[in-house]
Amino acid sequence: MNKEYICKQIKNITIDDVDEEMNKLIQIGNDAYTMSSRCRTGNNVVDYFTFLQRLETKGKYDINFFEFIEKIEEFKQKKFIQTMLTYYKDVKNKNNKKNEYIVLKEVYNICISAINIMRPLNCMEIYSKYKSKRVLNFCAGWGGSAVAAAALNLEVHYGIEINIDLEKSYDKMVSYLKTFSGTLFDIRFCDAATFDYSEFVYDTVFSSPPYYFIEKYKNNVKYYSKKDMNEKFYIPAFTKAYNGLQTDGYFIINICKEVYDNILQNIFGEAHEIFPLKKSKRQNEHTEMIYVWKKTNNVPFLL
Ligand SMILES: C[S@@+](CC[C@H](N)C(=O)[O-])C[C@H]1O[C@@H](n2cnc3c(N)ncnc32)[C@H](O)[C@@H]1O
Repeated sequence: MNKEYICKQIKNITIDDVDEEMNKLIQIGNDAYTMSSRCRTGNNVVDYFTFLQRLETKGKYDINFFEFIEKIEEFKQKKFIQTMLTYYKDVKNKNNKKNEYIVLKEVYNICISAINIMRPLNCMEIYSKYKSKRVLNFCAGWGGSAVAAAALNLEVHYGIEINIDLEKSYDKMVSYLKTFSGTLFDIRFCDAATFDYSEFVYDTVFSSPPYYFIEKYKNNVKYYSKKDMNEKFYIPAFTKAYNGLQTDGYFIINICKEVYDNILQNIFGEAHEIFPLKKSKRQNEHTEMIYVWKKTNNVPFLL
């Protein structure tokens, strides 16, 4: 299967599109808060570099988009997939404007899982609001935070990401972003739960870690239960990333309520600020929250 070809069929993003969106982000600068939640400016910059890896993430049925295509005949036996494909053929795509891969991707998004990105605009809004200069994303994912840091010309963007498949994409993305900004990028491909954060100097943590087992990213650690994941991932990663943060810095996490209730509140107490992640209603139906703590002293939390 030619994955690159399939990605191009779904999103044919040219480098000119990427340049244009990057320039728009730079123009938006500290005004990202004024932009609508539906504005997608900057998403193509992220997708140009990491869309293929995103499509390798497994959603429901333990299946990623490429496997879905490979097994489409099997999936067509499922009533809801069949119904959706028929609806596309007879109604939604009756003029054949969308090619077969776009249709399959939309059906996958609706029937299996939509693997979303953190929009660069969301990250820019956060970085501007908290006057960030040196930011850390310990679950760096598809690159939205790196693009945002470059657009705002921040001093440093630190990223930690365990999915080694993203390394080459990040190399290319960082080289590209450096043509627009003086931001220093330091991206490590390792486990955020065991990383030594004293290597980094940062005033803001903004991260969107996995929500338990909703999405299965490639090359991630396998946890056997929620308890296992709490102990081996959430507790050490949150605690260490927080302890490494500069005093007066902000610790900002986008996560499901379950992890906030069970883990974050237990470690850090009630968040100092809670607000919804600005996103298009179409992305998915539930509201996701952002939890913020201001670090007021340098006493570390013990593990
Ligand atoms: C929800 S995604 C982040 C997506 C992000 N919201 C975005 O749109 O870019 C979570 C990321 O955390 C990474 N991850 C999972 N476990 C990790 C770990 N132990 N250390 C570092 N990164 C990890 C996954 O590979 C995935 O890329």
